Amino acid sequence: MNDKKFYITTPIYYPSGKLHIGHAYCTVATDAMARYKRLCGYDVMFLTGTDEHGQKIEDKAKEAGVTPQQFVDNIVAAPGGVLDLWKLMNISYDRFIRTTDDYHVEAIQKIFKAMYDKGDIYKGSYKGKYCKPCESFWTESQLVDGKCPDCGREVMDAEEEAYFFRASKYASRVRDLLLNTGFLEPKSRVNEMVNNFIDCEGGLQDLCVSRTSFTWGVPVDFDPGHVVYVWLDALFNYMTALGYQNSRYDDLDRFWPADVHFIGKEIVRFHAIYWPAFLMSLDLPLPKKVYGHGWLNFNGDKMSKSKGNVVDPHLLSQRYGVDALRFFLLRSFPFGSDGNFTNELLIQTINTDLANDLGNLVSRTTAMAEKYFSGKLPEAKESAELDGELIALASGLRGRYEGQMEKFQFQNALEEVFKVIQRANKYIDENAPWALAKDLEANSSRLAAVLYNLLETVRICAVLLTPFMPESCERIFAQIGAEKSARTWDSAAQWGVLSAAVSVVKGENLFPRIDLAKELAELEAIQEEARKAALPALEIEPLAEEQVDFDTFCKSDFRAVKVKDCQSVKKSDKLLKFTLDDGTGADRQILSGIAKWYRPEELIGKTLVAIVNLPPRKMMGQESQGMLISAVHTEKGEEVLHLLMVDGAIPAGAKLC
Ligand code: MSP
Repeated sequence: MNDKKFYITTPIYYPSGKLHIGHAYCTVATDAMARYKRLCGYDVMFLTGTDEHGQKIEDKAKEAGVTPQQFVDNIVAAPGGVLDLWKLMNISYDRFIRTTDDYHVEAIQKIFKAMYDKGDIYKGSYKGKYCKPCESFWTESQLVDGKCPDCGREVMDAEEEAYFFRASKYASRVRDLLLNTGFLEPKSRVNEMVNNFIDCEGGLQDLCVSRTSFTWGVPVDFDPGHVVYVWLDALFNYMTALGYQNSRYDDLDRFWPADVHFIGKEIVRFHAIYWPAFLMSLDLPLPKKVYGHGWLNFNGDKMSKSKGNVVDPHLLSQRYGVDALRFFLLRSFPFGSDGNFTNELLIQTINTDLANDLGNLVSRTTAMAEKYFSGKLPEAKESAELDGELIALASGLRGRYEGQMEKFQFQNALEEVFKVIQRANKYIDENAPWALAKDLEANSSRLAAVLYNLLETVRICAVLLTPFMPESCERIFAQIGAEKSARTWDSAAQWGVLSAAVSVVKGENLFPRIDLAKELAELEAIQEEARKAALPALEIEPLAEEQVDFDTFCKSDFRAVKVKDCQSVKKSDKLLKFTLDDGTGADRQILSGIAKWYRPEELIGKTLVAIVNLPPRKMMGQESQGMLISAVHTEKGEEVLHLLMVDGAIPAGAKLC
């Protein structure tokens, strides 16, 4: 049996809505790592899944008029759902867990009971604040400006009987784990955890681990009415999916403890403090590492459904190909820090790295091998002087790449590969194969050497790019005639692996160049549409809280007024000028900023409502004697206005009261 094994996980996703590029970021990184380890010869277990319980899901299901199970099924397993997205993105997970799976639910009940029996879970009552979107409890002092410190949203009062986990008992062991081992990375996240949650006033607080105010969760079997807190339920997925406390799987001995949990920075608290404390309570081995990656923002702003600025991985994969998108995510942002996603950066990265550098290298090399030698190279003659640098650089690439991959520094690993690709493109220009080809008879063996060196360089780079762009690398291997044995990890550290009599076929362009300006305009239009669609259909202004006394109200003189004339105001795209019959016999002039919604001619003859005892006001040099009353609301982010019109039977001047 292979003694090299590797267990890696992504967070399990909340199926409360469609997943976006931020979710895909972590999963693509995990996939690249899993593929890399498989390439290195490891027996890999790559787990992902969905975290399906909790109040947020229960509420959303209610809103949608379906059961919570139907709601999550629809997001996870229906066409276009989570499973489809991972298939589209070529995510090679070995196991997918849903926390509503029976085996997991039963295991969580046993785990909860075991912690209770041990005395680490006790009954108390919870009074404090709760952030529903984050499913997080907070004390008053933890709030930032009265809002959730994780997401900045409103919190609600929560008071209920609840079970608590004695996190405080494990505070010093967790503290030691964080400060004195490599458990949590990047290191920059360690102090934040220790200072804010352990060395803070009052120390590490016990954690509320059951709820009674809703039912969509794993029931506490020995106390009906309580459901297990969603984070305790979710964190143990990493073990139940291997068979802990259930008989569905039997991989615990082989794969636990996990080698690494990849997670986003805002859930480091749960993974670096409570997760080890839960495991300590059950005397279970701790995962070897938790890596908290940064967030992807969009145009400098946090991606959020309510802002309508979430980036859709389906759309981008369709337009640029899955491999280009996978590559972009890991090439452009350092994994441990936040990254700013922009459409421009995406397109420029594809054009520069994939179309110009890699695509050109492969197409020039294969085209020349085909053109000059019909795809079969004759005997080659190397030149230490001309070829040595490229050969040394490419032969040593695997070591440099491995150093970065082992630290999860995907961006740096790719940088190493692209240095070699750029060097190879320069090598083409230095050796000018087209010039050698002018006298093919005399230069045949030199030209063959140049092309062979290029093919070998492409091969080594393609082996190392496989975890990032599996399908494109397959196509490269097919074009350069690399057999299975020339695609292995071992072969990536060897020079001269391609057989001398390779069979090269120039294939289709791997990464077509994108027209930046055209593409940006199209993407922005699509994203703007999506932004609008995400806005609430209808918004009305909240009712005023301040009361107005009756006498003040009665002072306002509202009258029916008939439009005698209406015209646009020169140099103003907002104002219309009304000449009105207010029943007094004299014309009344009112200016109103409603040109966006009405053409002047359509209003002539209509009876409107005006307040007529406002002090006169000058607008664009003209006097306005009152104000027309209209109804306003917001639709899909756009202000909509309707003038209040009354029945023509109401005479001009009639008082409204
Ligand atoms: N269900 C929990 C995880 C439980 S793990 C035991 C959860 N789910 S989530 O769907 O809200 O988020 C899943 C992951 O996506 C988190 O790691 C989160 O950091 C990540 N991301 C969500 N938006 C993101 C970005 N904009 N950028 C990068 N990652 C982000 O949390």
